[in-house]
Amino acid sequence: MNIYLIGFRGTGKTTVGRLLAKYLEREFIDADDYLEKKIGKTIKQIFQEGGEGLFRDMEGEVIRELSGMEDKIVAAGGGAVLREKNVRNMKRNGLVILLEADAHTIHDRLQRDPRSHTQRPNLTNLDSLNEIIHLLEYRRPYYEKAADHRIDTTTISPAEAVKAILSIYKSRSKNRPG
Ligand code: S3P
Repeated sequence: MNIYLIGFRGTGKTTVGRLLAKYLEREFIDADDYLEKKIGKTIKQIFQEGGEGLFRDMEGEVIRELSGMEDKIVAAGGGAVLREKNVRNMKRNGLVILLEADAHTIHDRLQRDPRSHTQRPNLTNLDSLNEIIHLLEYRRPYYEKAADHRIDTTTISPAEAVKAILSIYKSRSKNRPG
């Protein structure tokens, strides 16, 4: 079984995913990094060349590839849940955990994250905080529908988020048939 971390940019998917993978001695894969390596371009370049549509097509292919792997910890891009097929692929062999945070916390984290420059092109014409507020609202039903469990990372540390995921994972493994 794979564990997928979903949620908006800056909710901690990569930080928490790395830590979780270390704890479980599993491989961690960040879907954005995986795509950049596969294509040899940054996400920003993909957006510049083919717009969000091209990026979403490539992202869908990456999710499909990853869902064919076993026992990985995967951080999905923040918009991966927008395509139903991606959610179906993740659920096929995975536990899907939604990480959440409030808009101001997300904004602060994104400003501080050096990856934002190459991996997070603007998605709207709004300023950065309003884009976050608007997209969080728009995407809320997609995130909720995709999630098996939810963890709010606004006020907890990455280690505490990992602890919460482990307890979900353990109870899930115990209750699995076979
Ligand atoms: C996106 C989030 C990014 C990256 C791309 C689009 C989004 O991933 O996939 O910039 O639509 O929210 P992170 O959530 O890892 O920042």
